[in-house]
Amino acid sequence: MAPGARTLAAEWYLSAEIRAREDDRIFSRSWIYAAREEDLAQAGSFVTCEIAGESLIVTRDRAGTLRAFYNVCRHRGTRLCTKERGTFKGTIQCPYHAWTYGLDGKLRAARNMDGIEGFDPAEYPLREARVASFEGFVFAAVDPRKSLDDAFSPLAGRFSAWRLPELRRAASIAYDAACNWKLVFQNYSECYHCPVIHPQLERLSSSDSGHNDLLEGPFLGGYSELRDSATTLSANGKTRRPLLAGEENRSRVYYYTIFPSMLLSLHPDYVMVHSVQPLDAGHTRITCDWLFDPQTMRMPDFDCSDAVEFWDLTNRQDWAVNELTQRGVASRAYAPGPYSQQEGLLDAFDRHYKQVMQ
Ligand code: FES
Ligand SMILES: [Fe+2]
Repeated sequence: MAPGARTLAAEWYLSAEIRAREDDRIFSRSWIYAAREEDLAQAGSFVTCEIAGESLIVTRDRAGTLRAFYNVCRHRGTRLCTKERGTFKGTIQCPYHAWTYGLDGKLRAARNMDGIEGFDPAEYPLREARVASFEGFVFAAVDPRKSLDDAFSPLAGRFSAWRLPELRRAASIAYDAACNWKLVFQNYSECYHCPVIHPQLERLSSSDSGHNDLLEGPFLGGYSELRDSATTLSANGKTRRPLLAGEENRSRVYYYTIFPSMLLSLHPDYVMVHSVQPLDAGHTRITCDWLFDPQTMRMPDFDCSDAVEFWDLTNRQDWAVNELTQRGVASRAYAPGPYSQQEGLLDAFDRHYKQVMQ
């Protein structure tokens, strides 16, 4: 950790002007977690997502290719799709005058446009954004600095033992937290608070058992050890589910921040992913998904409530304390405070954040 490292100044958590600059410098230039591949399994299945104030439609075309389109009609600009997810029946149709686009974005039908001089439907496809997959996670981007493969090269191969593309979602919970999105990342990046805020977690995994292995840049994290009495993080600390990722990971839980939209937590027997989306400077939407081996999910006694209950409680404890921090940093009494020895990743996060904001 840099000597004298301190928390960010209040304005970084409060200012609408800085929030707008984040959209410009960070969110419009980064790959943003949008969906799991399983959400886009069929031609026409879609999700919509919001990136830097832009609404995008992410779908799969008839050839099986993932596509991302701006959610904007080429006639008079109307938003095409207002659902969060669903399946297009072969085409995307504007709700206003019914211009109709193929799943490849091409304009297929435009009523009463035949006699319009110079009008060529080929010149009015949906405008495309970028989309790519990493380990079964679909990321979209408006104007990324690098290809997804280049951007994610520090993570290449790191998670292969978990066979992430094969895993399936068994549960999902969405939360709204009254705090800045960076507080969610910072809170996730330290377990200094765990004995105080999460007694149920501290019982299963000691807060000073952390070993970080990504210490700089857009991806940060490492693993913590389970205590001898625990086999996973769950309501009772035990699991009957088979190991996902082999002996060497039997007693470890890995935690990584994927800047600026994802938190990835890999347990011996399941994977949890948080999608983090800023709503405004003081509000963040967080969606938490729990992923399991589909073979395990098919077993008649499959039950993931132990993992979901454990982390739902832990999540709510985190959002509650992040909301207290948001309220405190808004005070005239707040001034940046010194980071502890267990908060090195927060200093690394802050430095990366400030670098990309410049
Ligand atoms: S605005 Fe879309 S068809 Fe008119
Ligand atoms: Fe926490």
